[in-house]
Amino acid sequence: MRIDIITVLPELLQGPFSASILKRAQDKGLAEVHLHNLRDYSVNKQKSVDDYAYGGGAGMVMCIEPIDNCITSLKAEREYDEVIYMSPDGEQLNQSISNRLSLKKNLILLCGHYKGVDERVRQHLITREISIGDYVLSGGELAAAVVTDSIIRLLPGVLNDETSALTDSFQDNLIAPPVYTRPAAYKDWTVPAILRSGDLKSIEKWRHDESIERTKERRPELHKKYSK
Ligand code: ADE
Repeated sequence: MRIDIITVLPELLQGPFSASILKRAQDKGLAEVHLHNLRDYSVNKQKSVDDYAYGGGAGMVMCIEPIDNCITSLKAEREYDEVIYMSPDGEQLNQSISNRLSLKKNLILLCGHYKGVDERVRQHLITREISIGDYVLSGGELAAAVVTDSIIRLLPGVLNDETSALTDSFQDNLIAPPVYTRPAAYKDWTVPAILRSGDLKSIEKWRHDESIERTKERRPELHKKYSK
């Protein structure tokens, strides 16, 4: 899978993609992440990518032309499944969106800044908008990193233990059960005996019951979906 990220701050994104699982996925050839500096597609000498808003008001607006130039040049090379604008107004990211996006071949993520993009970008160039939550970030870069991470870790072969993405929280609308490691007793805090019993069937049932209980307690709205 290939993800192209269009940004005015590529340096902000270099870090997250050059360590740990995201780096390993790229080193193994399972995912490609390409960063494109929007300024390289600017049409003026100053390399500016924003301008004053028509009608006045505070804040700059990202211009359509550099964005169109960048998207058009990418589309000339390959077909894209989605052109996604990272925006707090978008559909809120959840595990099922990440699962579906992980099945795609080529994605473009466009990071917004300032007061956002010229509305015509949203009308004509992008196919969907994704938010990572009801709060406003300084730009779409961190949101794009979150989306990219949540997708790439799902690609077959990326995680060492193939089953581990399947047993993540949210895969079945349940929060993951508690986990423990050695020592079995620390101060007087002990690991539940069942987990040390070696009885795999009972352990599986205990974990499932704990997941349900936790979800009911912490995320009642998810628990409702699970019980349906
Ligand atoms: N850009 C700014 N805030 C954002 C958010 N919450 N989600 C996605 N993109 C954003």
